[in-house]
Amino acid sequence: MATRALSLDAVSAFGADIREGLTKKGQKELASKYLYDELGSKLFETISLLPEYGLTRADERLLRRHSREIVERLPGDTMVAELGSGSGSKTRWILEAFGRRRHTSYCPIEISAAALAACRRELADIDAISIVGFEREYLEGLLEVAGRRRVGQRILVLFLGSTIGNFDHPADVKFLKEIRAILQAGDALLLGTDLEKPVEQLIAAYDDSLGVTAAFNLNLLARVNRELDADFALEEFEHEARFNAETSSIEMHLRARRDQRVTVAKAGFSVAIRAGETIWTETSHKYSLKEVGALAGKAGFLCEAQWVDGEWAFAETLMVAGT
Ligand SMILES: C[S@@+](CC[C@H](N)C(=O)[O-])C[C@H]1O[C@@H](n2cnc3c(N)ncnc32)[C@H](O)[C@@H]1O
Repeated sequence: MATRALSLDAVSAFGADIREGLTKKGQKELASKYLYDELGSKLFETISLLPEYGLTRADERLLRRHSREIVERLPGDTMVAELGSGSGSKTRWILEAFGRRRHTSYCPIEISAAALAACRRELADIDAISIVGFEREYLEGLLEVAGRRRVGQRILVLFLGSTIGNFDHPADVKFLKEIRAILQAGDALLLGTDLEKPVEQLIAAYDDSLGVTAAFNLNLLARVNRELDADFALEEFEHEARFNAETSSIEMHLRARRDQRVTVAKAGFSVAIRAGETIWTETSHKYSLKEVGALAGKAGFLCEAQWVDGEWAFAETLMVAGT
């Protein structure tokens, strides 16, 4: 498999984060943004096709049905920025609606070079859209995009796929406030949020019968082995999806099957992991509609319109930055 050569700075930032997450007192954790290397991004795309994972299809249905109306609610001269675009396949509906109106710039912001390249390929054929990709963290990328706006131009920020749910509460409010601070009054945010649903449905979505989500989760340890010269034995860990009722979140963990010591050579540390101990790798918060409204208000946005899927509880909310 071709992997991108990482710069020394990127290796040391990755190593420092891994060291902090694995050596902290109490619950060990690894940041979910590291799930998305080239292989991880491809595994995520596969997850979105699984029968148990209805989230992506619900998001796509809403965008397919309502893109024209969403675009009609926005001023003529609007540029589009997307946070964590992934392959961008669902974004096609929004961009085609913009392109029918006038020439529009689209700026996907992605931490994963592989996902960004896939997004450029996926959307290259849409008329009247120019794509300028940013291989950046969300806020750093959005700042750069905002710096490119023409006088009088509006920005629509897309944050789809319920990626907002990867932030613990109240980190989700803080993150939306940071987005709001980069925007101007009248700019907009289209936020996709997965909604509360029965626990069995959620567990199946994050622990599918083919084991693709397990592979996605375990690939994080494989990535640490590849890029930081670590010696995780993958067969000594198992994927676990659990529902935390207190936070209304699905958590993904990697549970150690036995006592072990792991060395991460390029980050210069080794760590003992006890049998049964877990490494927490991702949170996916499930929202109520009331909560989505409150989130918008606390972050300085006004809810302009909302669409909810009838087959899989998922909401698309168009918010406008208030004064
Ligand atoms: C859950 S996936 C969603 C992808 C796509 N938006 C969708 O709805 O299918 C999250 C995406 O955000 C990207 N990502 C995660 N953390 C990021 C960060 N801190 N900055 C920029 N992109 C990030 C990942 O590489 C991944 O492609």
